[in-house]
Amino acid sequence: MSNKTRWYKDSFIYQIYPRSFCDSNGDGIGDIQGIISKLDYIKDLGAKAIWLSPIYKSPNYDNGYDISDYRDISPEFGTLDDFKTLVAEMRKRDLKLIMDLVVNHTSFEHKWFLKSKESTDNEYRDYYFWRKGRGKNGKKPPNNWTSRFGGSAWTYDEKTKEWYLHLFTKEQPDLNWDNPKVRKEVEDIVNYWLDLGVDGFRCDVITYISKREGLPNGKWGLLSRGDEHFTHGPNIHKYLNELNKNGFSNKDTMIVGEGAGVTLEQAIIYTNEENEELDNVFHFEHMETDFYKQAIPRKFKLKNLKKVFSKWQLGLLQKGWNSLYFENHDFPRSLGRFTGDYKDKRVEAAKMLAISLYMQQGTPYIYQGQEIGMTNYTFSNISEFQDVLVQNIRSVFGVFEPIFRPLIFKILKIRARDNARTPMQWDASENAGFTEGKPWFYINPNYTTINVENELEDKNSILNFYKKLIQYRLGNEVLINGYYKEYEGKNKDLHVYMRNYNGVSILVVCNYKNKEVPFKPNPETANKNCKLVLHNYNYDRPILEPMTLRPYEALVYELNKPKNS
Ligand code: NOJ
Repeated sequence: MSNKTRWYKDSFIYQIYPRSFCDSNGDGIGDIQGIISKLDYIKDLGAKAIWLSPIYKSPNYDNGYDISDYRDISPEFGTLDDFKTLVAEMRKRDLKLIMDLVVNHTSFEHKWFLKSKESTDNEYRDYYFWRKGRGKNGKKPPNNWTSRFGGSAWTYDEKTKEWYLHLFTKEQPDLNWDNPKVRKEVEDIVNYWLDLGVDGFRCDVITYISKREGLPNGKWGLLSRGDEHFTHGPNIHKYLNELNKNGFSNKDTMIVGEGAGVTLEQAIIYTNEENEELDNVFHFEHMETDFYKQAIPRKFKLKNLKKVFSKWQLGLLQKGWNSLYFENHDFPRSLGRFTGDYKDKRVEAAKMLAISLYMQQGTPYIYQGQEIGMTNYTFSNISEFQDVLVQNIRSVFGVFEPIFRPLIFKILKIRARDNARTPMQWDASENAGFTEGKPWFYINPNYTTINVENELEDKNSILNFYKKLIQYRLGNEVLINGYYKEYEGKNKDLHVYMRNYNGVSILVVCNYKNKEVPFKPNPETANKNCKLVLHNYNYDRPILEPMTLRPYEALVYELNKPKNS
């Protein structure tokens, strides 16, 4: 066992999507100096660490998730010196830094790939998956796997007349982890950044790195094919364990894996401390309660969300570790997704979601703008989307795209990743204080009211509530270690749960609906010796008794408090 302090168990991690966070040089793209200028803001919020989406050199087909040089910074974000300043400034403020580690694939402009395509027998050929095609003249892809972004997962290359594998866009060729040289390269990259002072990694689509030998055809699937041959593939645990031993464990790190397709059983293996693989994973089950397979809209039902919460809270208890998130750069904003139409109750709804999520066990993540209740952008035309995923989806429809366009657009409006990628809203000045130049992407017009400056001033704002909630949670043993027990499981409107630890209990009551809902404590939850510690309305509810909850009302009570505490 390594000597990890496991600091992430008592922490809040703030995710920055650098392009959209803060621009310091007026080129319309957020950058490292911009981040440095906002460190005090993040510190003041109460976060203990920052997860930075990729800032490495990249041709940006997928906004940095296609890396062409793992040891350098993209010029649009700054220089290595800027990065070193960032690390130093974060150290001063006792903030830890988690970098994105995108090593399932590289960019097609990475020097390994450029060399690998040159011939069939060069030393980099086996860094990637090159295969002959099927059919007459080998003009059919080597197998039926599909890209996560639509279409075949293979692209033909004229030069050597072979195909290469890419589980994402064709500009993102997959690395062959079965090649020990590739694994050594990744270790070196990890250690390079650890030596520069980073404290951990968020491992992009890490569950895909081990592919089944022979790359067999996948079974038929409506939205994708091949998953069973590369999700938690045969050597995944061996490779992660190796990377942990030779890289991650060289420092007191936190490693979170993006767990595409992760099941509870697998998550236990990944995050069980004895296995020395990852520290926590992002699973997607709660993100699928309103989108089937994360793609097709379906009616959100609170009951399904609560089932997912209970399953993961109980399933990982003392066996692994959870991550708590409602937002990131790959999903639309949470307001409206899980709350229905919040109308004039945006503030109450945002606070309620924070209580419902962050009183659970696990490492809490906050995505930039979530703490001020940023909302989806209102796209008015399909051509406004910038995301490569949108272009890919459209091209999958081929000549039929114009016919399906209205439907595609209808779905994208609520599902597109671009919804969460609009620039951060700092103040009511032009371009929301994000840039003095022309922003790379649309700014949500609601920035004149929803912005950091306003939130700082208003003592009842979402931002100030987040600060309070974070302070309440940090160091709170019941919330860090306590057991999770759900009540009112069948209730369609309320999320009610208790956390228990060493005789102290914390009761959480959340109304997910924009209407009044009755709540009647049962003999376990009715406790006279209680104290209201967090509340999203400005009046007291000193006693746990039958009550009518207001729209989105959320309460946190401490029960069985020893006298005089
Ligand atoms: C997951 C990342 O979060 C997403 O933004 C990216 O497009 C894919 N992985 C591919 O790297």
